[in-house]
Amino acid sequence: MTIHIGPLTVAHAGEALTVQRAAYVTEAQHYDAPRIPPLVETLDELRADLASGVLAFGAWDGSRLAGSVRGRVDGDRMEVARFSVAPDLQGRGIGRALLAAVEAAAPVEVGTFWLITGVDSAGSLRLYRTAGYEVVGETTDTAGVALVVLEKPRRTTAKSR
Ligand SMILES: CC(C)(COP(=O)(O)OP(=O)(O)OC[C@H]1O[C@@H](n2cnc3c(N)ncnc32)[C@H](O)[C@@H]1OP(=O)(O)O)[C@@H](O)C(=O)NCCC(=O)NCCS
Repeated sequence: MTIHIGPLTVAHAGEALTVQRAAYVTEAQHYDAPRIPPLVETLDELRADLASGVLAFGAWDGSRLAGSVRGRVDGDRMEVARFSVAPDLQGRGIGRALLAAVEAAAPVEVGTFWLITGVDSAGSLRLYRTAGYEVVGETTDTAGVALVVLEKPRRTTAKSR
């Protein structure tokens, strides 16, 4: 499998929403929370986000969109959001490649990357820790799911696993 990472544009919105929903259903089932934000995002909202200039990358396996990620820049911080890989393609390094791509594309003024994930999403937490992220706090999303906030200073070298 050869994966190609490239910019995710408005033209990819439909496919991106399909992959995002498929990926996050597992999280929603785990937390018994069908209305988590990545699942209630509409096609119009996703299109508007991509049109607004958010940093967004897709991973393609041939012509198939395998996953995507978005980076929301606010001053010297960037949130990594809507990180998703198609269920049948997870665990093959696509997520790591997408995370590296969005981090590398952050504007120079960004000094901190941050993200949220489910408090007991062990797989995601392992991925983020090995990518250099540390838990810095806790929060709750609009669906009532307990989340942890993770941060990583730019240019931290990834920890060995
Ligand atoms: C999180 C996600 C984007 C990672 O993409 P991916 O392509 O599967 O990730 P990679 O293959 O690059 O690397 C995954 C690493 O994290 C682990 N991992 C990630 N998600 C995992 C999961 N759900 N279960 C078990 N392990 C998981 C993998 O085992 C691997 O670690 P390892 O190399 O030590 O085994 C993908 O699993 C996904 O879409 N999950 C559902 C949506 C979600 O939870 N998004 C993130 C919310 S913040």
